[in-house]
Amino acid sequence: MEFLQLENIHHSYFSSTQAKEVLRDISLAIREGEFVSFIGPSGCGKTTLLSIIAGLFPSTEGKVYIDGDELAAHNQSSIGYMLQQDYLFPWKTIEENVTIGLKIMERSNNSHKVTANALLQEVGLPHVGNNYPRELSGGMRQRVALARTLAVNPKILLLDEPFSALDYQSKLKLEDLVVETLKTYKKTAVLVTHDIGEAIAMSERVFLFSANPGTLHKVFEIPEALRELSPFDVRQHPTYADVFQMIWKELESLG
Ligand SMILES: Nc1ncnc2c1ncn2[C@@H]1O[C@H](COP(=O)(O)OP(=O)(O)O)[C@@H](O)[C@H]1O
Ligand SMILES: [Mg+2]
Repeated sequence: MEFLQLENIHHSYFSSTQAKEVLRDISLAIREGEFVSFIGPSGCGKTTLLSIIAGLFPSTEGKVYIDGDELAAHNQSSIGYMLQQDYLFPWKTIEENVTIGLKIMERSNNSHKVTANALLQEVGLPHVGNNYPRELSGGMRQRVALARTLAVNPKILLLDEPFSALDYQSKLKLEDLVVETLKTYKKTAVLVTHDIGEAIAMSERVFLFSANPGTLHKVFEIPEALRELSPFDVRQHPTYADVFQMIWKELESLG
């Protein structure tokens, strides 16, 4: 069994008057330490699928296995979730924001400061522990959010369009930082993005979903030559444009 395994996931949202089928028969497997991306048209169910993997709510049908264990809903301790907005608490310092998950999980208190400072160092923000979120730029706040996500030592990181609110330059820098950091900590990660280039630059495989209802349409293996490079360097590589064209055409064919 693979590290993250989805078996025949179906999901519908129910209101008092109707049922809306959002995901149909999704099965896939992701290796430990692998970095994959989910792409597809808006509304194809990417966020719904991440939420199911995160254990925020159970799927209507199907099973999720993480590291051999079937995921029980509301057992979220093995998951780190990073969203478009950083959701830092404005009244807490950066250091307090980074350790918030640890405090919730009641891990020993004296190690918090060490963890926070080591992670802030890792994301290139060694001197901001005593600052407040309002004093940092959007890109810096997302780096703090990454540190916070890593602080609870999750088995899997789920990243739902975490760079989409950033300017292009910050986004490129953060792509490199995230890939480098996750490699250092050997983390398994799923990135949702609407940016094909970002998916190619960061991932080992790209999963393309189609909509109405959301189904897994195709899986692309990113060539070895690109996988060895940093996201920034992938975008400069001659093969990058070919891979981009191939995925772009497939996405266009979904209409
Ligand atoms: N809580 C909800 N209740 C009802 N419908 C929802 C809910 N969340 C999402 N949807 C619908 O499910 C579909 C998939 O949404 P979502 O998972 O957010 O897609 P994506 O992230 O790919 O854009 C959309 O049609 C959306 O309107
Ligand atoms: Mg979404």
